[in-house]
Amino acid sequence: MLELLQSLFDNNLFIPHGHCYLWKPSLVWLHIASDSLIALAYYSIPIILVYFVQKRQDFPFKWILLLFGAFIVSCGTTHVMAVWTLWHPTYWLSGFLKFITASISVYTAVVLVPIIPQALALPSPAQLEAANRQLSAEIIERKIAEEALLHAKAELEQRVEERTFELRQAMAQSIATAATAQEQATKLEFTLRELQQTQVQLVQSEKMSSLGQMVAGVAHEINNPVAFIYGNLTYANEYALDLLELVQLYQKYYPQPPADIQSTIEAIELDFIQEDLPKIFASMKIGADRIKQIVLSLRNFSRLDEATMKRVDIHEGIDNTLLLLQYRLKTRPEHSTIQIIKQYSNLPEVQCYVGQLNQVFMNILTNAIDAIDELHKLSSLEDIQNNSSTIHIRTQVLDGNQVMIRIADSGCGMTQEIKSKIFDPFFTTKVVGSGTGLGMSISYQIIHKHNGHLKFISTPLQGTEFFIQIPIHLEK
Ligand SMILES: Nc1ncnc2c1ncn2[C@@H]1O[C@H](COP(=O)(O)OP(=O)(O)O)[C@@H](O)[C@H]1O
Ligand SMILES: [Mg+2]
Repeated sequence: MLELLQSLFDNNLFIPHGHCYLWKPSLVWLHIASDSLIALAYYSIPIILVYFVQKRQDFPFKWILLLFGAFIVSCGTTHVMAVWTLWHPTYWLSGFLKFITASISVYTAVVLVPIIPQALALPSPAQLEAANRQLSAEIIERKIAEEALLHAKAELEQRVEERTFELRQAMAQSIATAATAQEQATKLEFTLRELQQTQVQLVQSEKMSSLGQMVAGVAHEINNPVAFIYGNLTYANEYALDLLELVQLYQKYYPQPPADIQSTIEAIELDFIQEDLPKIFASMKIGADRIKQIVLSLRNFSRLDEATMKRVDIHEGIDNTLLLLQYRLKTRPEHSTIQIIKQYSNLPEVQCYVGQLNQVFMNILTNAIDAIDELHKLSSLEDIQNNSSTIHIRTQVLDGNQVMIRIADSGCGMTQEIKSKIFDPFFTTKVVGSGTGLGMSISYQIIHKHNGHLKFISTPLQGTEFFIQIPIHLEK
């Protein structure tokens, strides 16, 4: 290798090229100048090519440009060698360089041929220009279309907005119409309810006043015969007992009566009469007592305007009534105790018929106790123990010369049917003998006479609350 390099620079055997030009200065200089200029040009062209390739990375045949660069550089080098060999006969080296140049050139020529069709297929600047123009035209067309579209869209939006507005207005209008209709319906319903109430009140007061008159008549007519019966019952009882005693005396002193008497004694079953007569009188007495009580209630019911008006403390009346009812509140089985809860507010004295008002309290409170007992009958012992029974009494002053007394019980409550009949005289749901059915109708009448209102609310198995509303000062 080293030998090869040495032989390349070996020049002992050859004469420099300048001899061929006979060292004629003008000829030598002509060659020097020409070769040098060619070499300079050849060296500068690749620099430009590299610069171009670097700037135009998208250029499709970069490598061929670089190949051009390489072969131009080697060509330049052969010209430099031509200057060199004027004085130094290193023809081996010169030939070797020429060989390299030839190889690169031939290679370039060979690879250039197949890429020519590809290079030809590349669009020419004119073609590109035309394509560009077409594209520009298309872009303009598209822009116009787009603008038209935008315009149509805006128009559509505007129309949608207008339609929405119209629809909204229509909707608002129909809502308003519906609201008015609803309002009217509500008003009508309210009026209807009011009418119904008025009708009920009218029927009620009409019923009450005609009943009052009838009851007054009945009470008056019954009162006297009942008084006879009741008044004479005691004597009749005494007389009968005396007669029985007399018969017993006869039997004692005349144990063997004549056959006639003996047979009569047997026929009438004297023993049984002796035993049964006192019982009969006792039950007659109970019956008469009851009739008397009912007549008293009836008279109270019809003779509402007989007592005198007084200004009284309502609370006192309630408390007295509760006191009278102690026998029913106190003597109860342990488990069914009734709790009385009083919530009295500061009431002024109220002008009223005291006795009658107390009768109202009595009637309502008695019913409350009855209702609680009724519920207990329907409940298990466990339920009774778990749910305490209460009677809640509240009083308050209302606006405009009125007081309100509320009496609520936790009793059995009322069904719709019972509610509709509660103020009817003689209406009762209680067993025969325990209720007269007059308590509520009398109370209604009394409160009505006081220019007040007696109302109630009731839920089956939950309880009932009565609302007594009367004026503080009663104007005659
Ligand atoms: N607080 C109440 N709870 C449940 N029912 C009640 C109440 N008050 C009244 N009633 C019902 O109204 C009827 C009539 O009551 P009322 O006129 O006092 O007559 P009575 O008590 O003699 O049955 C009752 O038999 C009862 O059915
Ligand atoms: Mg009653």
